[in-house]
Amino acid sequence: MRFSISTTYALASATAALAAPGQVSPRQDAPFQITPIANFAEPWSLAILPDERILVTEKGGRLRLVDPSTSSTNDITGVPAVQYGGQGGLGEVVLHPLFAENSLVYISYAEPNGSPQTGAALARARLVLDSNGGGALEGLEVLWRQSVTYSAQGHFSHRILFSGNSTMWVTSGDRQQFDPAQDLSNNLGKILRLNDDGSVPEGNPFAAEGGVAAQVWAMGIRNPLGIDFDDQGRLWEIEMGPMGGDEFNLIQEGGNYGWPIVSQGDHYDGEPIPDHDTRPEFIPPKAYWVPVISPASMIIYKGDLFPDWTGNAIITGLTSLGLVRVEISGDTAREAERIPMGRRMRCIRQGPDGVLWVLEDGSGGRLLKLTPP
Ligand SMILES: *[C@@H]1O[C@H](CO)[C@@H](O)[C@H](O)[C@H]1NC(C)=O
Repeated sequence: MRFSISTTYALASATAALAAPGQVSPRQDAPFQITPIANFAEPWSLAILPDERILVTEKGGRLRLVDPSTSSTNDITGVPAVQYGGQGGLGEVVLHPLFAENSLVYISYAEPNGSPQTGAALARARLVLDSNGGGALEGLEVLWRQSVTYSAQGHFSHRILFSGNSTMWVTSGDRQQFDPAQDLSNNLGKILRLNDDGSVPEGNPFAAEGGVAAQVWAMGIRNPLGIDFDDQGRLWEIEMGPMGGDEFNLIQEGGNYGWPIVSQGDHYDGEPIPDHDTRPEFIPPKAYWVPVISPASMIIYKGDLFPDWTGNAIITGLTSLGLVRVEISGDTAREAERIPMGRRMRCIRQGPDGVLWVLEDGSGGRLLKLTPP
């Protein structure tokens, strides 16, 4: 199905009572209680330590450690220099699945190289905590890089997800360059499957192509900012589309998702992009949004604190100024609910107890704890 420009605008005005800046306030019947914990400078991601303290990245390059019980916040030193600007800076922070044994923390960032050109890098280091509420990253090693650098400052994506004890999934955006997503000579516009030391595991679908193609699990991806597994072990991904066409995809080994050849959206200058149904060889999204929600992160909720949400995808939206809940049924998915939060929402993670932790975007963005009302 194709949305004409005028239909897109009609839809926009019909739904954006919820989405226009300045018109949104958190609704009274919010499905959770919101506890603000602390403010940050452009927070991007968070990771929950076994002692329930929380690491928060700030895009400008600081890694912070906050104790939610006191809101006291301290620095973690040893973060590498980052290229801050546009969408770039310090990005993801994730704990190794065996963090309790090895103290390994993984981060991603736009890496400076002495020129305007930059690309995403992924590094790991040991987190050594001190007795003053802070700590340091020690023994930092860069494990992976985007294979081509550009002066454009967008679509790094660089989310990280672990499965099992040692498999690492990395989202690598198209760096606003379009065609690299269809080209296996680079690792942009792809979902990658690596080992926890950055090496390439056995069994990746394009290994025979050699080079960075061996890292690739799926391709034809634009700006993938969230990935998570469901309880059946299926990998779901959310990505920002162009003007219209944000996608929620079920990721298949070796799958090609069609960017930039097909999209339910159009280019920003209005130039049409053929829809998915014109090219059935590309895997279409299970859900898509016209107009966009601007998905910045996503989890599949696996807790029981919010029992109605178990198995649902919970997406943080930037332009949609809230959370979007998507129900998955078999291999179909549909938007079930929008929860206005009154701000661009950057990141969501589930705590071990089923509590939801979210970060607002931008200057003064807060870490919020979401619990049942
Ligand atoms: C994962 O690590 C845990 C803890 O070290 C270990 O008990 C378990 O056997 C490991 N699982 C696999 C599949 O290696």
